[in-house]
Amino acid sequence: MDWQRRPRCDETAAWPLLKAHAGQAFHGPGAFDLRRAFDGDPARFERFSLDATPLRADLSKNLIDTEAQRLLTRLAHECGVEAHRDAMLRGERINTSEQRAATHVHWRWASNRPPALDGKAPAAIKTIENVVPEAAAIQAGMLAYAEAVRADAAITDVVNIGIGGSDLGPRMVVQALRAGGLADGPRVHFVSNMDGHALAELLPRLQARHTLFIVASKTFGTAETLRNARSARDWFMARGGTDVARHFVALSANEAAARAFGAGRCFAFDEGLGGRFSLWSPIGLAIAVAGGRAGFEALLAGARAMDGHFASAPLARNLPVQLALLDLWYRDFLACGSRCVTPYHHGLRRLPDYLQQLEMESNGKRVDLRGRPLAAASAPVTWGQAGSNGQHAFFQMLHQGSDVVPVEFVLVREAAHQLPGHHAKLLANALAQARALMLGQAGDAPERHFPGNRPSTVLLLPELSPHSLGALLALYEHRAFVLGSLWGIDSFDQWGVELGKRLAGEIEPALAGGEAGALDASTAGLLGWLRG
Ligand code: F6P
Repeated sequence: MDWQRRPRCDETAAWPLLKAHAGQAFHGPGAFDLRRAFDGDPARFERFSLDATPLRADLSKNLIDTEAQRLLTRLAHECGVEAHRDAMLRGERINTSEQRAATHVHWRWASNRPPALDGKAPAAIKTIENVVPEAAAIQAGMLAYAEAVRADAAITDVVNIGIGGSDLGPRMVVQALRAGGLADGPRVHFVSNMDGHALAELLPRLQARHTLFIVASKTFGTAETLRNARSARDWFMARGGTDVARHFVALSANEAAARAFGAGRCFAFDEGLGGRFSLWSPIGLAIAVAGGRAGFEALLAGARAMDGHFASAPLARNLPVQLALLDLWYRDFLACGSRCVTPYHHGLRRLPDYLQQLEMESNGKRVDLRGRPLAAASAPVTWGQAGSNGQHAFFQMLHQGSDVVPVEFVLVREAAHQLPGHHAKLLANALAQARALMLGQAGDAPERHFPGNRPSTVLLLPELSPHSLGALLALYEHRAFVLGSLWGIDSFDQWGVELGKRLAGEIEPALAGGEAGALDASTAGLLGWLRG
């Protein structure tokens, strides 16, 4: 199928069949019940579990039956998901609103092809080396630079200044490396927010001559990042720093702007690399500084293992595809407005933040690739926080609230610490929560009644290594892509963030006492309050 002429999900033959099946089997009296489903099918766990080495996924506690799964998989076929996937892997311009390829996979394939594709890749994937021909050399330069920083005794602190995709991925991965005892380079800090409190809190703990600032910005035009970078540069010079070029390194697709700022080195990348997909590229410098070349390369290898699975597993056993189909099922057939992600690992506590950008910036759209309004609801709200903390915050609502929220538990089998009695308790709590959501409990009073039949998924990593983390993050990327593909939207643009940026530029002078221009009454009133 030609990927550009693919039908979107609501234009397939499977769509009305799914609507009918959802109406008959999942709504109203006698509706699907997880407890009955397990009683009636001793093989349900095996039937709905998937392996995508090194990850395992248990989807059996979801509100889904074999007929829904069959129809959903048929829908993915009818939507031409495979053709679209292969177009992405070939480096075609699938980001049509910006006429760009989506090159994140090519950055992790720069030096090594996914083993699963050897010999069986779709023929056109052979052109992969042409997509970002310079990626391997830039990657090698970035890793050599990271190793030099790690070996430089004069650099004790590295500050990554960036926001969105230039912050969330690297920040989360560095936290994960730390939790695993795998971050052995200089201290790495992250500053993202325009709010000066963040930078002001960090700077007094640094010494100019011992600090390296990474200015990470694809556009090198993002207001937050430029504000923080300029403030950091002012601070650096005020503290006796003389060699801005040595102490500021840039990661950007806009090398000219980075050089004009004063960065001595700039690791440049292509426009096709989306911010929220960019941690595999030079944007991952902070990861390489923290975890070294070996850590970064293991992260890429894990992602490549998932790429190979995504590119070659049949759709019915393809984990990113099946997770995206479940997301679609919950959103468009069972009317779930949000999904909760709860990683039971301290090192993954920032995973929900990272996923918020990946999923909502990618798929929070209202028109399709041809500009037509969508016929189905798109991205739900992604939210959550690390377990077991979440149990003492929002799990009450998950168990007894009026909304059904699919919950995703991310578990790690082996702990990286030696403290006795923690990890088994943590895992037991996660399993217990998933079980309680499903089983519920007949209460002796209405407030003690748990309805049960509430869905959850478990994703299991063997350990929180760079390799398994790379696979997990690539899984989420492919899942977001497939979901957007089913909806027929462009998952690689983000026009929705532009309007607010422009209006901020107009309001800022007014806040400083200048002319406000024509403002709505509320904004004008608030400006009055803020001016004092
Ligand atoms: O939020 C909008 C956005 O463009 C994101 O897509 C991006 O990750 C972030 O801003 C930062 O952009 P840049 O890397 O260009 O500074």
